[in-house]
Amino acid sequence: MTIPRRKFDTLVIGAGGAGLRAALELSQADARVAVVSKVFPTRSHTVAAQGGVNASLANVTDDNWHWHMFDTVKGSDYLGDQDAIEYMCREAPRVVYELEHIGVPFSRLENGKIYQRPFGGQSQNFGGDQATRTCAAADRTGHAIIHALYQQNIAARTHFFDEYFSVDLISDDDGYILGALVVDIATGEPLVIEAKTTLIATGGAAQIFRTSTNAHINTGDGMGMALRAGIPLQDMEFFQFHPTGIAGKGMLITEAARGEGGYLINGNGERFMPNYAPKAKDLASRDVVSRAIATEIREGRGCGPDKDHILLKVDHLGKDVVHKRLPGICDLTRSFLNIDPAEQPIPVFPTAHYTMGGIPTNRFGQVVVPVSSGPEEEVPGLYAAGECACVSIHGANRLGGNSLLDILVFGRSSANHIMEYLAENQHHRDLPESAVEKTMQRLQRWDKKGEGESVASLRNKLKLVMEEHCGVFRTESVLKEGLQKVVELEKRLPDVRLTDHSQQFNTARIEALELENLMDVAIATICAALGRKESRGAHSRIDYPERNDVNWLKHSLFYKKERQLDFKPVHTKPLSVETFPPKERVY
Ligand code: FUM
Repeated sequence: MTIPRRKFDTLVIGAGGAGLRAALELSQADARVAVVSKVFPTRSHTVAAQGGVNASLANVTDDNWHWHMFDTVKGSDYLGDQDAIEYMCREAPRVVYELEHIGVPFSRLENGKIYQRPFGGQSQNFGGDQATRTCAAADRTGHAIIHALYQQNIAARTHFFDEYFSVDLISDDDGYILGALVVDIATGEPLVIEAKTTLIATGGAAQIFRTSTNAHINTGDGMGMALRAGIPLQDMEFFQFHPTGIAGKGMLITEAARGEGGYLINGNGERFMPNYAPKAKDLASRDVVSRAIATEIREGRGCGPDKDHILLKVDHLGKDVVHKRLPGICDLTRSFLNIDPAEQPIPVFPTAHYTMGGIPTNRFGQVVVPVSSGPEEEVPGLYAAGECACVSIHGANRLGGNSLLDILVFGRSSANHIMEYLAENQHHRDLPESAVEKTMQRLQRWDKKGEGESVASLRNKLKLVMEEHCGVFRTESVLKEGLQKVVELEKRLPDVRLTDHSQQFNTARIEALELENLMDVAIATICAALGRKESRGAHSRIDYPERNDVNWLKHSLFYKKERQLDFKPVHTKPLSVETFPPKERVY
């Protein structure tokens, strides 16, 4: 069977903020760019980002990139790479002004400048008073950004393959990545996209957990592709649980609610965060607030008849502030809880939100892997940016507002490096039919209907196991049991049934391919969590409650082959300033 082929300079897999920011830079420079997305681009998960994007514009409080850098290093529990963090914080004002100039409708201050609000873990003067650094378009910042980027890409003639699913990367015997095999979701027809450079920008994978802020599309497809190509995933044990998901449902209630002056209360009506973070209180970093909520509930101070959640109060702020600054969460709480948050507190519980780990890259977006002959080497032609990548700027815990920043800064820097690569590699390398056939095998494995349980049923079991065994607090025995259960589920995967009365065959096939990716990411996460015998950032081990910088100030690398775990050093040296050495992390 000969598969049709299309040729481009760059293939971008994923049409969220990172993919579209990169595609825009490249198309405007006259590169031929294909963006492949399994959903219509403006439905990519960036659309759901609420609270804003961090940049030290100093529109409200005094600020500068060096303070932003300090907060990000501290927020990362010192696991973030300080060269990449410096780069991101220095670039932040520029990427925000670029957005302003392409038409992102930021909210405004009285003086007409971009509106900024305080977010968790932000400080002035290296740990002093609260900073106000998050630039916002009400609480629909991601929505505003993705629409502006999409429109600009259309104007720049980026070529979109909407509702195409990427099956696997294609490489040659010299290890060059030459594009990917994709499939048209509507027809099931495969297509080879040949490209001199490929950027993976497929977003996160919080769909491995039952309760999550993430869209159904966040199935770790790029991470799965990387693992199957022999590339390890870095720091997968660090999964962020956002403190305020709607209890029992998981949808995001933005940190902006606390940034605007909201706070959390327990079942006794007490404001409890000052007990855990005396200075920052409800605006401590997310790992601290999530653990505080989980602790209140575990110790019997939860709210409601089952004492199984906490309340987020914004009603004291008044209707004007709540309806003007937080219209999105008003919509969400009306739809899912039938309440107006300006009148009633919102029941919340920590919910899986963000994948800190991912495909290892340097700050130019190049995918880098360790080699026996030296420290690291780039995978030629392959880039990754955004949540699927691990640069690593978030380390063990990401600060709110730094994810929109990450996708913009590293989407752009990847594009800049890709242009250099294209200047030096002007011709397509030969893509042999055998390389395509190898990739086709994954698709062909699902050319059958199967006899076992449905894809949905197996997926739900996986998500439940991950929630019960790899959540906010972890222990060796619970993790081990979880791994065993996931491995058992993985064995059942090849037999899943691809049709039931409500599904078309091809949709079910795509869901099976997604489930393979979820399984791979779940196994990487739980193995890395078992491997790290300390507590750092979002990885909280009850059996190893302390951070251990002597033995564990290092990144983990998980390989699919034999589920092997390896480690590599943290870049503690910034580009131009002094290192921030690890310190006790208090808020
Ligand atoms: O709470 C929020 O609005 C989420 C922001 C983020 O994850 O950066």
